[in-house]
Amino acid sequence: MTHRDSVETDSLDSFIQAGRPLLWVQTGEEDRLQERLAHWSSVWKTPLWTWDCDHGLGCVGQAIADSQSLGSALRYLQENAEIRLVWLKDAVLFSSPEVARQLRDLYYAWRHTGKVLVLSGQGNQGIAGLQHEMVAWRMPRPDEKSLRDWIHNWAAAQGDWVKQLNLDLMVGTLKGLTRMEADHALHRLAHEAQSGPVNLRILQEEKRRLIENMGTLQYIAEVPKLDHLGGLENLKDWLLKRRELLMTQDPHLKDIAPKGIMLMGVSGCGKSLCIKAISSAWNLPLYRLEMSKIFSGAQGSPEHVFVESCKAMEELAPAVLWIDEIEMGLAATGSTAVDPVLSRIFAFFLTWMQEKPMGLFVAATANRIDLLPAEMIRKGRFDQVFFVDLPSLKEREDIFRIHLSMRGFDPSRFDVEIFADSAQGWNGAEIEQCVVAAVTQARMENRDLELKDLYLARKQIVPISTTMEEQVRHIRNWAYERAVRASAGQD
Ligand SMILES: Nc1ncnc2c1ncn2[C@@H]1O[C@H](COP(=O)(O)OP(=O)(O)OP(=O)(O)O)[C@@H](O)[C@H]1O
Ligand SMILES: [Mg+2]
Repeated sequence: MTHRDSVETDSLDSFIQAGRPLLWVQTGEEDRLQERLAHWSSVWKTPLWTWDCDHGLGCVGQAIADSQSLGSALRYLQENAEIRLVWLKDAVLFSSPEVARQLRDLYYAWRHTGKVLVLSGQGNQGIAGLQHEMVAWRMPRPDEKSLRDWIHNWAAAQGDWVKQLNLDLMVGTLKGLTRMEADHALHRLAHEAQSGPVNLRILQEEKRRLIENMGTLQYIAEVPKLDHLGGLENLKDWLLKRRELLMTQDPHLKDIAPKGIMLMGVSGCGKSLCIKAISSAWNLPLYRLEMSKIFSGAQGSPEHVFVESCKAMEELAPAVLWIDEIEMGLAATGSTAVDPVLSRIFAFFLTWMQEKPMGLFVAATANRIDLLPAEMIRKGRFDQVFFVDLPSLKEREDIFRIHLSMRGFDPSRFDVEIFADSAQGWNGAEIEQCVVAAVTQARMENRDLELKDLYLARKQIVPISTTMEEQVRHIRNWAYERAVRASAGQD
């Protein structure tokens, strides 16, 4: 299937058009690069010459003998003045000083002649010593428009079975994959369709697998609805009012488009749940960046991995990026003042928050926000810092009702108000735990849930506001003056 990439390859086109003699393209998608170069070959009415270490140098209908060595191929290019457009694949292999010399000579010979030599490879290192001569460009993943066109072309070539699919939802699901990866995912979908009805779960699974290969990002496909979140009315109100603004593409509104929120507060009160609910309320895919993986060092230096993960997220927009336990690095390494790596990570993050594309919403959570540097929570980075406190009486009632209904029980059969009243100091997780323990007891005895099960389960729970009283008090005192309460009411 041939396809014209849209704005995402504009800058590649302009480098070629401008006749930059040496162009480094960082990409793993040779098919997309091939399409662009074939386009220029036809516009310029000149053959596209290619070289790789197996086939050597050649163009359609012509193979140059004994040109598998890069040195001999470059010499041939020097000596044959009619060659105008060349593509050297496998460019990661070129690291010798001799090759750098030959490329530099070619640069001076081809400068201002309109001839272009493209080198491609997966790395971002370019070729050592040629930083001044060579322009480096990273091919982004397909943008929404080109993905939409491509999926529509694909669908048109399929049978009637594609009518059961929502193509717009497919665009959202495949966004962030390379075209090759998206192609594999669609193949799998078409294959499964031969044996019965299909749904987008297959694409979601593929995407989860591929995103996880990147190492630090996790794609979260299953997200609860906003009404599974009890209480937190201020926060819900804030989110619902801003949905339209987030999706705006009007660059004049960049200043007021939501950038992100920080949720801090007592453990188990629904911070993580809330972020998942944002993704479902806004109908945006959710990705989680695991700070613990970044600091584990398994993927490389934390600074490099963090920067790369943020850049990868830019290509996944529109989306919600969840940075869980953003203070994790601090807890792992101590104070920001003494750790230069961490200071650089935060400095990058703060600038990136200002510059990241519209439609990418960052939702960070922290239990110990008091550990973070002051500039992190200063207004302007995050739109709002919300404090998620222990639930009020009314919120506890809500949470009891939600967890009973989610498990198929009618809350009006139970004295939810009395229960909620006696659960002062509990967090949402403990309320859920109480309901789960009661339901388990009833199931084990093969009978319906009764009030006594809830009473019994209640006795087993010792809330963290009791076991970690000091710490909970410290967080609440800190947040009292510095953050906006996520709940509307108080006990
Ligand atoms: N407001 C709430 N409404 C409904 N359920 C809740 C609420 N708060 C907590 N829960 C239940 O408790 C579970 C744990 O909550 P969650 O993981 O969101 O807390 P958290 O604030 O992120 O905690 P931690 O700081 O430990 O990560 C949720 O999956 C949910 O089932
Ligand atoms: Mg959490």
